Amino acid sequence: MKTDFLTPELIAYEEIFPVWRNHLWPERQDPIESMSAMTFPSGIDAGVMRLYKPSFFGIRHQGKLIAVNSGHLTSKFDYRSRGLYVDPEFRNQGLAQKLLDAAARQGASEGAILMWSYPRRSALFSYLNFGFLESDISPESETNCYVWKRIVR
Ligand SMILES: CC(C)(COP(=O)(O)OP(=O)(O)OC[C@H]1O[C@@H](n2cnc3c(N)ncnc32)[C@H](O)[C@@H]1OP(=O)(O)O)[C@@H](O)C(=O)NCCC(=O)NCCS
Repeated sequence: MKTDFLTPELIAYEEIFPVWRNHLWPERQDPIESMSAMTFPSGIDAGVMRLYKPSFFGIRHQGKLIAVNSGHLTSKFDYRSRGLYVDPEFRNQGLAQKLLDAAARQGASEGAILMWSYPRRSALFSYLNFGFLESDISPESETNCYVWKRIVR
């Protein structure tokens, strides 16, 4: 199915939540929240949830949400991309790249210099394709790793 013409738009949390719960994190026991307190290059800061607001991005095909992502600042200069998911029927066409780009643009517009993420290793190819670099910091998890990319020249 051709998707070249599809572009990301801002969507509501209520729209992204079912995609996250049913497709991205179906096994998750902890509650799914609109943002995370994780920081880069490591650590947790509860202040993130208080200080910043998340944005949610989606790509629709014939009215149906087929790909999503979100992002939020985790410090004044760091922006996290979180919750990237593309419907299997629409993979391998660059939709993830468009959604990472949407997050990077949003991050830059909010003053971030760096964008980071914590993808599963199984999805790392998409992040490296976008120009992310894998961080040297060892993650707590074996399945995920930190990646980062400068988003402002
Ligand atoms: C990881 C995931 C988001 C990738 O989605 P995607 O849309 O297929 O990814 P991309 O946009 O990076 O495209 C992937 C491939 O399409 C190719 N492609 C085809 N047309 C393209 C275009 N117009 N522009 C860019 N890439 C294109 C790319 O070359 C790439 O192939 P390659 O790795 O062989 O170079 C998707 O597999 C997914 O949802 N997985 C499950 C959830 C998950 O792991 N999410 C990650 C967060 S943990």
